[in-house]
Amino acid sequence: MTKIFAHRGSAGTHPENTMIAFYEAERVGADGIELDVQLSKDGQIVVIHDETIDRTTDGTGWVKDFTYRELQQFNAVYKFADQYDVCRIPLLEEVLAWICSTTLLLNIELKNSLIAYETLEQKVIDMIRHYGLEDRIILSSFNHNSMALCRSLAPNIETALLYMESLYDPWKYVRVMRADGLHPYHRTVTEPFVRQARHYQIAIRPFTINQEPLMEKMFQYGVDAIFTDYPRNAKNIRENKKTP
Ligand code: G3P
Ligand code: MG
Repeated sequence: MTKIFAHRGSAGTHPENTMIAFYEAERVGADGIELDVQLSKDGQIVVIHDETIDRTTDGTGWVKDFTYRELQQFNAVYKFADQYDVCRIPLLEEVLAWICSTTLLLNIELKNSLIAYETLEQKVIDMIRHYGLEDRIILSSFNHNSMALCRSLAPNIETALLYMESLYDPWKYVRVMRADGLHPYHRTVTEPFVRQARHYQIAIRPFTINQEPLMEKMFQYGVDAIFTDYPRNAKNIRENKKTP
């Protein structure tokens, strides 16, 4: 059955990449959570999508220029200020500590395309190992060099390649990259593509699937998982469908 990953938590209804968005994902019965990580000035792994804090908090500036303590001063309530009071930018560690008490899967997207964050891969892997979560985590990135590095640093943690445009001979590429999955922009996903992926035993998890007809289509194709800002809607649709 196609799994449902809450994208940035339940980002359609709660402030993205915050603990309340993650709690909500669990509450509505998502199978997993997707979140994005960057490094603060003092080398802490923080959960935030953009390289700057401008869009999702009441501050401005680069994540890399603030210590974690400084980042804590900003309110990450984003566009949900009328519903929630103060939300902090979480540490990856807080999320992992909490995930241990759940059965959720977790996709950690390394946001290291614009800024290389030299030590990010090793730090993330060390933290996953510290919590013994190797079996429940998928690492992904648009930076495929970073995924190659993760694969060599931690052969037992799943890796997946994010991309926007369709790839030429993706199956050969995945083999060369020694990746376990592809996380494509949904427009590139067709039924034959999903069939081939199954043949090659490559997991396909398209993003970001928010419209209900698109959810239906992806469930019908039998993708391994979808990323959605609306996990509750996706669950309702999946439960009324016969999925492969
Ligand atoms: O990991 C899937 C999706 O999150 C990738 O795009 O920009 O939402 O991080 P973005
Ligand atoms: Mg992401």
